[in-house]
Amino acid sequence: MSSRTSDVLVVGGGIIGLVTAWRAAQRGLSVAVADPEPGGGAALVAAGMLAAVTELHYGEQTLLGLNLASARRYPDFAAELADLTGRDLGYRRCGTLAVALDADDRADLRDLHALQRRSGLTSEWLSGRECRRLEPMLAPGVRGGLRVDGDHQIDPRRLARALLAACEVAGVVFHRSWAERLDVVRERATGVTAADGTALAAGQVVLAGGSLSGRLAGVPEPVLPPVRPVKGQVVRLTVPRRYAPFLSRTVRAVVRGSHVYLVPRENGELVIGATSEELGWDTTVTAGGVYELLRDAHELVPGITELPLTETRAGLRPCSPDNAPLLGPTALDGLLLATGHHRNGVLLTPVTGDVLAHALAGGELPDEARPFTPLRFSRSELPA
Ligand code: GLY
Repeated sequence: MSSRTSDVLVVGGGIIGLVTAWRAAQRGLSVAVADPEPGGGAALVAAGMLAAVTELHYGEQTLLGLNLASARRYPDFAAELADLTGRDLGYRRCGTLAVALDADDRADLRDLHALQRRSGLTSEWLSGRECRRLEPMLAPGVRGGLRVDGDHQIDPRRLARALLAACEVAGVVFHRSWAERLDVVRERATGVTAADGTALAAGQVVLAGGSLSGRLAGVPEPVLPPVRPVKGQVVRLTVPRRYAPFLSRTVRAVVRGSHVYLVPRENGELVIGATSEELGWDTTVTAGGVYELLRDAHELVPGITELPLTETRAGLRPCSPDNAPLLGPTALDGLLLATGHHRNGVLLTPVTGDVLAHALAGGELPDEARPFTPLRFSRSELPA
C-alpha cells in the first residue's frame, strides 16, 4: 500500500487533535490528521462551558492551574481563530451563576465558595433574591448562589469547524480514515496503518482519540493511555425571540447529587447538561437521562417547559484515573498523547494546542504542563 510521510501525524480530529495539528503546523512542521470525520467527537455534544472556577473540585488543585492557564488564553485564542477563519465561534463572556435549591445545596455551595477563596479565585456569594434579580427566570425557591463573572462559554461545534478551517489554512493534510494500528519500528513509533491500508508514516505521532485513545492496536501495553469513556447526555432547547433574554448567563446547580447546567447561547440555543454515566462506549440517549435533566433543570428554571425541545444527544468524555489530561511524550519514542481531558476538553483546548506544539517542536513539555505528563501513569518499562 502507498505510504505518506509527515513530521507529525495526529490520530483523531476532534477539537484536541485539531488544535494540536493547527499549532504544530504554525511552527513549521508538516502535519497530517487521521480521522474519518474530522471536526466531530465529543465537541458535537459538549455545552462548551469555560468553567475553571465553578467546576473546581477538591483534590484537583494542580488541574486548576492548567484550567486557569487555558481560561486566560481564551480571549486571544478565540480572536485569532475568528480573525483567521472569518467565523463566529459563539464565544460569550457571560459569566456563570451556581445556585442552591435547599439547605444542603447551600452548605455545599458555601464549601465550594470557601475552596475557591482559598485557591485565590474570584466569586461572590448572593442571596436567593439577588440571584433572581440577576436571572428573573430562576425558581422562587432558589436559596442562594455564587456569581462567577470569569466563567464563560463557547459553542464547541463552531469551535470545531473553525479549527478545521484553521488547519486547512495552515496546510494540515487530512486522511479521512480510521487509524487502525500504530506502527512501531525498533522501539519507536513511526506512523500508523489506516483502515484503508495506507501507511501513514510520521516523525512523531500524537494520539488524540478522545475516549478511544486507549484502543489503538499496536500501542505497547505500558504506554496505552488509561482513559475510559464517561457518558454525558445533553438536551438542546430553543428560546423563541419573544422570550429573550431567557437567561443571560450560564446557570448551574447540583440537584440530588447530579450536576445540571443551562447554557444560553446568543443564537437562542439553550443547552442543558449533563449526565455522568460509566457505561462503556454506549451513546444511547435514554428516556431516564432526558427525564432527569429536564426535571432538574425545571426545578431551577420552571419556564423551560414552554420551550421547543430541538435535540437530544450523548457523548463520551475521555477520563483518566486522576481526572486530568495526559499531555506530551510517552515512554515510547515518537509517541505523544493529547487525551484524558474529561470534563474540561473545551476549556483546555488552547493550552493543549500550545503545550503539544511546544513538545513536538522541542521534545519537552513546557513547565506549566509537566504535571500532566503521561509518564505519571507508566506501569512498567517497555519490553526490550
Ligand atoms: N464540563 C461539563 C461536563 O463535562 O458535563
